[in-house]
Amino acid sequence: MLRVDQAGEYGATRIYAGQLAVLRRNCPEAKLIARMAAQEQRHLKRFDALIAERRVRPTALQPLWNVAGFALGAATALMSEKAALACTDAIETEIDQHYQQQLDQLGDDDPELAADIAEFRTEELEHRDTARAAGAADAVGYPVLTAAIRAGCRMAIELSKRI
Ligand SMILES: [Fe+2]
Ligand SMILES: [Fe+2]
Repeated sequence: MLRVDQAGEYGATRIYAGQLAVLRRNCPEAKLIARMAAQEQRHLKRFDALIAERRVRPTALQPLWNVAGFALGAATALMSEKAALACTDAIETEIDQHYQQQLDQLGDDDPELAADIAEFRTEELEHRDTARAAGAADAVGYPVLTAAIRAGCRMAIELSKRI
C-alpha cells in the first residue's frame, strides 16, 4: 500500500510540475493548480516518511513516473487550461476509489495509516471538485481525454503495486 501510495503522490507532484511549467503563471487555473500541488507535496512527504519508517522498498518505476507524470502534465496544459483541469478531474476520480479500497481493506488494522489515507482522500476529492467547478468538463474531448487518463492512472497503480 505504501509503495503504490508514495508512487502516486510522487506522480501527482510531477503532473502538476509539468502543468505549471506550461501554464501562464497568473492565469486562474495556474493558481488553483499551484494550491493543489502544495497539498500533493504534503502527501508525498508523509508517504516518504512512512516508507522510510516502515522500511518499505519504493517503486523501481520512480524514474518512469518522473518523466511520464511531467509529460502528462505538460501535454494536458498545452492542450488548454481546461484540459489541465480535466487531467486532475480524471486522476482524482481514480485516486478516490483507490484510497477508498485501501481504507476498506485496512479496516481497523492500522489506524495511523488509515487516518492519513482518509485525510488525503478528502483532499483529493476537493481537488476533483475544484477542477470540475472550474470547468474541467469544458475541455475539448473531455470524455475521451478523461477516459484515457483514468485508464493510464489505473495502469500506473497496478504497476506500482508490483514493481
Ligand atoms: Fe495527493
Ligand atoms: Fe490530488
